[in-house]
This record gives sequence, structure tokens and C-alpha cells, in this order.
Amino acid sequence: METLKRIGILTSGGDCAGLNAAIRAVVHRATGTYGWQVLGIRQATQGLMCRPPAAQILEPALVDHLLTAGGTMLGTTNKGNPFAFPMPDGTLGDRSQDIIDGYRELGLDAFIGIGGDGSLAILQRIARQGGLNFVAIPKTIDNDVGITERSIGFDTAVNIATEAIDRLHFTAASHNRVMIVEVMGRDAGHIAVSAGIAGGADIILIPEIPYTLDNIAQAIRLQQERGKKYAIVVVAEAVRTETNQPVVCTDPAGQCRFGGIGQYLSEQLCRVTGAETRVTVLGHTQRGGTPSPLDRLLATAFGVAAVDLIAEGRFDHMVTWQQRQVIGVPISEAISRYCAVEPDGTLVKTARGVGICFGDEIPDDRSAEVVAESVA
Ligand code: F6P
Repeated sequence: METLKRIGILTSGGDCAGLNAAIRAVVHRATGTYGWQVLGIRQATQGLMCRPPAAQILEPALVDHLLTAGGTMLGTTNKGNPFAFPMPDGTLGDRSQDIIDGYRELGLDAFIGIGGDGSLAILQRIARQGGLNFVAIPKTIDNDVGITERSIGFDTAVNIATEAIDRLHFTAASHNRVMIVEVMGRDAGHIAVSAGIAGGADIILIPEIPYTLDNIAQAIRLQQERGKKYAIVVVAEAVRTETNQPVVCTDPAGQCRFGGIGQYLSEQLCRVTGAETRVTVLGHTQRGGTPSPLDRLLATAFGVAAVDLIAEGRFDHMVTWQQRQVIGVPISEAISRYCAVEPDGTLVKTARGVGICFGDEIPDDRSAEVVAESVA
């Protein structure tokens, strides 16, 4: 009889919808198919720093209802890099060996880490240092992990942002206002592009495509001349000012984070167009709530495949979604290729094709000529 395998699972970095669905799939596959034991590690790697390590046995009955639950039942953190961890005396210390010792204390044969590119790079470094068997699952609403076409959480975030834009059309039209919607995404504009197209935005601004206020103002004016008196502008949080200055704010803990580009644009567009402007910052609503069916599906497929990678001994690999298939790739390949929006890619072309302005040029819309010709 095969010796019992014990695997750990943890979630690391910012939470997103679909994490629990992935945990559930891992538990089902590992216990049901292979007869292994699964330990859920609390609060990312911090659970492995605790003595005794903070972990609990996960069984199907405990996780089955979690398919639709937002957040992560294991807790997570996007602070406290273990290699520069805040110590009680105020200095930064290397706690990586504590994590390796915690893994050994739990008697793990392997562990699965669910994270974005930053977390996965840290987990991989620790695993290599300690000779730990590690398999990765990509998650992030930003969808910026390399190689995989999708990461867990992105689709739900796009759904939430799209629904918000849908709602804003009516109030914008009623008041003839320019509505600016600031979405998350860190340095990538994926949420802005997808939700902007799906929500019928007029202007989408992303960090990957430089803009001028003049182009945006002209696009709004042209639209007004053609009879549409309101406009929806979707802006990704990492978009800079027209003069390329980052727009950031400092949170109460003194940490610098994105935030404020919507307000900046609101003031500038009010000034240059004379339009009444309003800002909606979607913030963490994009991370919360019930995962979309697509995220549940992706999370389930990733969870099953990650356990299979362990069964096959293919460690240091990450599961990816490529052309409707889950494929394991070396983690290094995935995290070394940052996945930004391609300015010449299909989605940007699609957006331009329906007259959406990216602020780099004024959309070429000849529909008015066609109408005039057909009337003549
Ligand atoms: O990486 C996910 C993300 O939601 C980004 O889109 C956003 O910039 C950041 O995390 C927010 O982090 P926090 O939860 O620390 O405010």
C-alpha cells in the first residue's frame, strides 16, 4: 500500500473570488483520488512561522460548501516578505528558515501555494532553499501572471466592474455627465480593457497606452456633437498623469498604494471640456463576493491539476490555462514573463473597432458620413 502522503495548501497575496473553490478541489482530488491528507496552512507563510505551525486538517465535508464563497477560508496576507520580515525590534529579518522548519514539523511531503507572481516568486525561493516540494496555482484579479491566459479571480473582477459600468450608463445619461470609473489591476490594464469593452465604455485608459487629455476631450466633444451627451471613462489605477507622474496615496499604515487617478482625470476633464464629471472608485469590491461560474470552473480545474502534478512528482511547476486546457509549466517561466495588455492585441483592436478611445488618438468614426450619404 502506498504510504500516506500529507500535503499542505496555502493562499498568499491579496484575496480574490475563487480561492475557496480551488482549496475545495484540492481537498477532493487529494483525499478522494489519492487518499492523501490535506493540511490547510493559515495566513500564507505566516502559518508556517508559528510554533506549532498554524494548520488544520481539511476534509471534503469541511470545504464542500465553499465553492461559492468569496475570500479564502485559510486567510492570507500581502505584507511581510519572509526574506525581509518585520521583527519585534523594528528591524527586518530573514524568516525563510522558520517556514522551512514549519513545513518539516507538519510532516508535509509537498505543498500547494495559490498566489500572484510576487507571492509565487517568494514561495519558489523558499522551496528551492529548503528542498521543499512545491506546486503553484495562479490567482490574481490583475491577470498579469505570465503564460497562463487566466488567473483565478480575474473573471469575477471583470463581472463586478462591468456591472458597475452598466449601472453608471443610466445615471450618466440622465445628467449628461462624464463618469469616470477607476478599476484595480496594479500595473496591467486587463480589468479596464475587458470591463470597458463589455460595459460599453467610451474611453479606456490603461498604463500600457499613453494618452493626452486633449485627445480625450476631443473624443468626448465629438461624441457630444453626434448626439451622445454623456461619456463613460474607465481608467486603470496605475495610469499616470498626462506628464507621466504616478498617482498614489499613502494609507494610514504609511504604505504607498495606487489610488487617485480617477479624481485627477475628473478635475482635468472638467477643466478642459467644461463637462460635469463624477468619479466612482470600485476598489476592493472587485475582489469580493461570489466567484463567477468561470472562476469556479478555473479554480476547480487548477486545484485538480495541481494535485495531479504532485502525484506525478512534477514539482516547481505551476498550472496554467492555455487554449481550454490546463498545462503545467515551470514556475520560473511563468513569473519571469509579466503579462501586460498588448497594445496591438485583439482586445485593444476590438475596442478601437467599436469606437472606444484609448486617449492616444481620436477614434476615426465615419458613421455620420454614411448616414448623410444614405439620406442624400
Ligand atoms: O493585486 C491585487 C490588488 O487588488 C491590486 O489590483 C491592487 O492594486 C492591490 O491588490 C490592492 O492591495 P491591498 O489589498 O493591499 O489594498
